[in-house]
Amino acid sequence: MTDPQPGKTLWAGRYEAQAADSLRKLSDSLSFDKRLYASDIVCSIAYARALARAGILTPQEADTLANGLAEVQKEFENGRFVPAPGDEDIHTAVERRLGELVGAVAGKLHTGRSRNDQVATDTRHWQRRAVEAVTAHVLALQQALLNQARQHVETLMPGYTHVRAAQPITAAHWLLSYFWMLARDVKRLDACRESTLISPLGSGALAGTPYPIDRMALAQSMGFTGITENSLDAVSDRDFIVEFLSAAALLAVHLSRFAEDAILYSSPQYGFIHIDERFTTGSSLMPQKQNPDALEMARGKAGRIAGHLSGLLNTLKGLPSTYNKDLQEDKEPLFDTVDTLETLLPALTGVIETMTFDPAKMLAALDEGMLATDVADYLVNKGVPFREAHGIVGRAVRHSLETNRPLSKLTLDEYHAISPVFDSDVYAVFDFARSVARRKAPGGTAPEAVREQMRQAESWLSRQK
Ligand code: ARG
Repeated sequence: MTDPQPGKTLWAGRYEAQAADSLRKLSDSLSFDKRLYASDIVCSIAYARALARAGILTPQEADTLANGLAEVQKEFENGRFVPAPGDEDIHTAVERRLGELVGAVAGKLHTGRSRNDQVATDTRHWQRRAVEAVTAHVLALQQALLNQARQHVETLMPGYTHVRAAQPITAAHWLLSYFWMLARDVKRLDACRESTLISPLGSGALAGTPYPIDRMALAQSMGFTGITENSLDAVSDRDFIVEFLSAAALLAVHLSRFAEDAILYSSPQYGFIHIDERFTTGSSLMPQKQNPDALEMARGKAGRIAGHLSGLLNTLKGLPSTYNKDLQEDKEPLFDTVDTLETLLPALTGVIETMTFDPAKMLAALDEGMLATDVADYLVNKGVPFREAHGIVGRAVRHSLETNRPLSKLTLDEYHAISPVFDSDVYAVFDFARSVARRKAPGGTAPEAVREQMRQAESWLSRQK
């Protein structure tokens, strides 16, 4: 500001009274939106250059502004930036400080620009880096899953439905199931990155700018790939944040589901996996305990992130068109979601990298009941329609439960009494590794199919770099 009055805001012109303290407390956002400082400054420098290209500023004036802004950025980076009482948000704070550093010419920076198109631009600029950072963390976690999977292509374990042992599977197959969920999350993050990179700058407060600004050149100079088509939409659109929060919420849900599996499988009752001590905590009362805190935090944080998505959708619902101050509520959920994922993902990656399996325990958890489908398939191969085979095997299972012997211990006579189709070769079915190996169609749990799956995963990962 050219004539800084302490505590005065940038829009004080038509005002006699100062804003009430209670209003300032309610609506000032500098305490959290100062995180946008680098984006605000980069985009302001780009805007100064665009004004010069449009003949509104001289090249010297643009240089002065750019140098001054770089100075302000340094102050933020060194922690030397001192907020003034009138700084409402990051945009007013930067402009106020610029005025103190370069004088009256600072007042030309905002020509044709409004905080409405400015904040939308800054937030998109900031979100781009955030999306990229989160994506990189997800890829690292996927790499850890793939590395673990490589060790366990032949390791057998029970696969569950309804938390009841269902059919034997391989541990690699279980691990990779999460790899593909996350691959879709990365795809959604990529799509979000694309919609983020559209520049609203040059939309003014709502109606557009009367200055001959080359919006596309301006957009490209800030690293954006396109420009918004409608100024009213441009200043009110927060779809890009909703897209990020939705992608983040679904990602967090996937992480939470993995965490829940790992919590169960690492519990003493299952004992399938061991979570490294560095990712568990003890109990202050019960000396024997090892609690899977990192995993429980993953489950817990998913609720928080889903809440942010829901919160922003509710903020947007019912807003009349163009900018409304409610929109300032977009930033905290965005920032917190990014912070949460940036702390959660490395911890979960650590859990996955260091966890170990207990193949003997997993094998011991398999029982022949889990081969009942394989016995039905055996009958199908002998020409019995599947529905009928299902009924026959159901009777065999019942008989095995009643006589308290596993299916493989029923005699051939007993099998014949259930169905004449059974032959002595039925006993070959009672082999878990064989059951798994049969499921070798693409996407199945057979080691052969899982090896192919790992090749796909590997090539998917290499395409992300
Ligand atoms: N701090 C505001 C926000 O985040 C910036 C835009 C303010 N615009 C306005 N017309 N008051 O939304």
